[in-house]
Amino acid sequence: MKLKPLLLFGLAACAALVVLNDRSSAQTAGAGVAKDAEADRIRVGFRIAPVPLSLRHKDPNLVGLGSYIANAQTFCNDCHTNPPWADGHDPTVGQEPAKMNAAVYLAGGTSFGPFVSRDLTPDAHGLPAGLSFGQFRHVIKTGIDPDNAHPQISPLLQVDPWPYLRQMTSHDLAAVYEYLRAVPSLPSAAGIPDLPALQGGAEGQSESGVAKDDEADRIRVGFAIAPVPLALRNKDPNLVGLGSYIVNARIPCNDCHTNPPWEDGHDPTAGQSPAKVNAAAYLAGGTAFGPFVSRNLTPDEHGLPAGLTFAKFVHTIRTGIDPDNVHPQISPLLQVMPWPYFRTMTDHDLAAIYEYLRAIPSVPSAPGTPDAASR
Ligand code: HEC
Ligand code: HEC
Repeated sequence: MKLKPLLLFGLAACAALVVLNDRSSAQTAGAGVAKDAEADRIRVGFRIAPVPLSLRHKDPNLVGLGSYIANAQTFCNDCHTNPPWADGHDPTVGQEPAKMNAAVYLAGGTSFGPFVSRDLTPDAHGLPAGLSFGQFRHVIKTGIDPDNAHPQISPLLQVDPWPYLRQMTSHDLAAVYEYLRAVPSLPSAAGIPDLPALQGGAEGQSESGVAKDDEADRIRVGFAIAPVPLALRNKDPNLVGLGSYIVNARIPCNDCHTNPPWEDGHDPTAGQSPAKVNAAAYLAGGTAFGPFVSRNLTPDEHGLPAGLTFAKFVHTIRTGIDPDNVHPQISPLLQVMPWPYFRTMTDHDLAAIYEYLRAIPSVPSAPGTPDAASR
């Protein structure tokens, strides 16, 4: 059964109200925190889902939260939908309104060198990517490729951000899985490695034995996984912990903004254990993606992350407009940076990210990187 249009409309209307309200109350990090941060995320999740969702036999709160994580934070669409944006609706070239490519949403087929993203939509048995929840969890926790599509290179997934996602709480992983169960099933394009359904494992149900205090769990995990010492003075510790959780477990900021992302000998994608983030250069930028170079996100001498006030940071994420205007000849908009997804985050979560960035050690920009001059 598809979600009834009326209900969908109702949810969308609610979400619009909540978001408007959120924005008008946007303050500096820490102030005026939304009472019900989780309900906001769920509402936003339903609003931004680019496809009709089948809620039958699903936990709607998990589906909404999963949509929020997948679409506002982890940007699964950018890698698992080919191409990610509908024709004429690509926000990275200024084509608004943005529209994800619903026709092939999460059906895989994007090439990253020799690696091709997989079809995550439910198979004939309703299993996302053909995986039971137990198998899905195992893939994300270990990175072991269930299809073993490139044994000559590695048994581990090479592009998927599992080294970060595996730190998510069980509740959040269950939400992502529940959301994937609810998206429309699409056949994989010819030639895409796909699962000849793994044997064993539980049914395609996610764990609903959900922890009572999910947010407290996230905050605890956030502090446990922060790869650098955090300066908590004059910060809201709950926001810092949550921000660490979002930055290190839900979004691979480190993969793009730390160069190189892993400490020598501790790269999980090469099977090196234990994984260790490159703390010395953590989020200091300098990774080149063609002509685009990631920026230094650490606090400047005034304590401002990436040199941005909270208002400027929010504006940058919500609009994609490059605050440094580093490449006006190409675009005034940030390229590579997944702002078209992040901009749909709640103000509370953006405040948490900002508060966390305020708390990490300041690292000077490497000479020659875009923001070295302004520092
Ligand atoms: C940066 C790009 C990228 C992002 C973001 C990303 N993935 Fe992937 N994912 C890949 C690629 C590429 C593969 C397969 C090849 C590899 O990584 O070696 C893959 C493989 C997978 C697999 C293994 C599936 C199978 O059946 O073989 C799962 C499950 C998966 N991704 C889930 C997700 C989910 C869920 C999200 C969002 C929460 C996500 N991925 C975000 C690129 C990405
Ligand atoms: C897929 C890679 C990628 C990921 C993931 C990513 N970024 Fe970026 N980001 C970039 C690149 C590249 C740029 C510079 C883009 C350009 O030059 O057009 C950038 C620019 C930025 C800027 C502009 C800074 C300035 O002062 O000019 C901010 C802020 C930012 N990123 C924050 C973040 C945060 C916070 C996260 C995680 C929540 C994140 N990014 C995740 C690649 C990434």
